[in-house]
Amino acid sequence: MDGMFVYILFFLLFSLACAFLKKQNRKPEKSAKLPPGSMGWPYIGETIQFYSQNPNVFFAAKQKRYGEIFKTNILGCPCVMLASPEAAHLVLVTQAHLFKPTYPKSKERLIGPSALFFHQGNYHMHLRKLVQNAVSLESLRNLVQDIEALALSAINSWRNGTVINTFNEMKRFSFEVGILTIFGHLDTHLREELKKNYWMVDRGYNSFPNSFPGSQYQKALMARKRLGKIVCEIICERKEKKLLEKDLLGCLLNRKDEKGGILTDDQIADNIIGVLFAAQDTTASVLTWVIKYLHDDPKLLEAVKTEQKGIHKTNDEGNLPLSWNQTRNMPITHKVVLESLRMASIISFSFREAVVDVEYKGYLIPKGWKAMPLFRNIHHNPEFFPEPQNFNPSRFEIAPKPNTFTPFGSGVHACPGNELAKLEILIMIHHLVTKFRWEVVGSQSGIQYGPFPVPLNGLPARFLGKSSS
Ligand code: HEM
Ligand SMILES: *[C@@H]1O[C@H](CO)[C@@H](O)[C@H](O)[C@H]1NC(C)=O
Ligand SMILES: *[C@@H]1O[C@H](CO)[C@@H](O)[C@H](O)[C@H]1NC(C)=O
Repeated sequence: MDGMFVYILFFLLFSLACAFLKKQNRKPEKSAKLPPGSMGWPYIGETIQFYSQNPNVFFAAKQKRYGEIFKTNILGCPCVMLASPEAAHLVLVTQAHLFKPTYPKSKERLIGPSALFFHQGNYHMHLRKLVQNAVSLESLRNLVQDIEALALSAINSWRNGTVINTFNEMKRFSFEVGILTIFGHLDTHLREELKKNYWMVDRGYNSFPNSFPGSQYQKALMARKRLGKIVCEIICERKEKKLLEKDLLGCLLNRKDEKGGILTDDQIADNIIGVLFAAQDTTASVLTWVIKYLHDDPKLLEAVKTEQKGIHKTNDEGNLPLSWNQTRNMPITHKVVLESLRMASIISFSFREAVVDVEYKGYLIPKGWKAMPLFRNIHHNPEFFPEPQNFNPSRFEIAPKPNTFTPFGSGVHACPGNELAKLEILIMIHHLVTKFRWEVVGSQSGIQYGPFPVPLNGLPARFLGKSSS
């Protein structure tokens, strides 16, 4: 229910934005016709149906009825949903310049308007390169030991046998990895200050954006301001000391565009907070799903254990650190991660807005309409993934058909952090399976949305350490 609430809020904001932006009802001149689908009543559209069902069920039912491309209307916001790999590819890759990213203003304010994912064109491209640099394979290679230390420190904080909220613990871990990637080894005091304020922003992100002083959204905005200040302090210090670091902040500080200009401190802060944001809940939800799927399939867990224990043994029973090479050679565990990404499809869909009238297969996507590639529907289409409801990592022994597997999106806005995410997941799983067995407490099947799908209540679980062997 909680999740549904978040969805409702999300679309409410979204549609308010739409209602303001919709200037006039232009009649498209082209001969192409609108895709099939029902728009429901004016304004209210199909919102009621949308909210009264799991959104994934809503999309799946529509796809069954209308096919790979269909229109709908969510609170005054006309949308074209794209449920085929080709259509998604068009919007995200081949015709990406005809579609711009679109987010509710309230979220943009919380993250920072200069963060790369809100932008298109040159500014976006330059920033993207800088972020890619900071999380390139070359850079990640040097982070393995530090990420391993963070994983160990996280799991060593769990008392043997006490119930923990798995998702929250994974969030703490992915936050630390985010800080490491962005700032390198940051002074403890600054790290704690960042953490405290970041958590407030995090809580406000899914609350109703209003201007009542003391509301969660307002508190989040204030925490966001403080975050900006802390980041600026760190920037000042770096500039004074003329430190040349290879972390993300270092990359952003050294940036020169064609005209030799540099990024302003605010632009840097927005992007740092944006990356922290993009990196945390995503990775933590996927990790939580991996832990759940392994728990639910003892045979698979045994296979992963065998693979990881082999590495553990090579490393003198864990006395030597994991090497980069080892993290690149975990074929079974890697397939489990891929299958978890497919199965959970935590980013179920993406949002774009057509900047001109676009035609696709004789259908019109009018200027100003939203275009939504439905990743989850594609990942759960039996045509591409036979028996899609079965968790079956061995399906990844053969590469998926082109454009059918996009857990990290695709095209100009595809996730630059995908290798980092996979790396931290593999490292955490290595230590979990070699050191613990775990029992899930309570519901075994519920899902909550926050806004990403996570097992109900964050997967409360008991991790039992092995005393020897
Ligand atoms: C398993 C974890 C993750 C998943 C499933 C994921 C998924 C995605 C997806 C689907 C997009 C594209 C959204 C769109 O096209 O609308 C995206 C964008 C992005 N992700 Fe990730 N992500 C993950 C982890 C990370 C991490 C660890 C980072 C840290 C560097 C990161 C940074 C970003 C950034 C900066 C963007 C925006 C890129 C742009 O607009 O050019 N993500 N992510
Ligand atoms: C890592 O693997 C590559 C190729 O797989 C090999 O050339 C290299 O020697 C290995 N490095 C170490 C330190 O084992
Ligand atoms: C943790 O608790 C379990 C069950 O009570 C016990 O078997 C195990 O030896 C304990 N592990 C450690 C490391 O204390």
